[in-house]
Amino acid sequence: MKKIIKLKVNGIEYELAVEPNRTLVDFIRKDLGLTGTKKGCSIGDCGACTVLMDGTPVFSCLVLAMEADGCGIRTIEGVADGNKLHPVQEAFVSEGAIQCGFCTPGMVMTSIALLKDNPHPSESEIRRAISGNLCRCTGYQKIVEAVKKAEEELRVKS
Ligand code: FES
Ligand code: FES
Repeated sequence: MKKIIKLKVNGIEYELAVEPNRTLVDFIRKDLGLTGTKKGCSIGDCGACTVLMDGTPVFSCLVLAMEADGCGIRTIEGVADGNKLHPVQEAFVSEGAIQCGFCTPGMVMTSIALLKDNPHPSESEIRRAISGNLCRCTGYQKIVEAVKKAEEELRVKS
């Protein structure tokens, strides 16, 4: 039986009925139409579905929509400021850290959470933070460089 949940996604309040087995990734993609969040494996192996739940990165394929009742969710659609990309997004572009782009939304969300918790991560801390996000294209080096570049940009601004 469906249950009503209330939550904020990218600052917008939603109140919707969901099936008890509806995953958060399907809720975000199918019910809200926010298809920036990707669904790769559905079993917690790839990180493509990473979103922030009350600021913490989660694999949204492993979270039920009902578990997000009362929470604040941030997806890749809620990262840019209007037409201005987030510094992490800018760095992914400028460092060439994107090829097919399938992993990118999850990588960006994980990186944003990392830089919020640890504004000056070492390379090994960056690699550890993104270790749950798989990329089959880039070989990771450019992603690591992009996170370092974003850290520098954010340091200059702060
Ligand atoms: S789709 Fe969620 S971890 Fe792969
Ligand atoms: S850019 Fe293709 S999977 Fe990462």
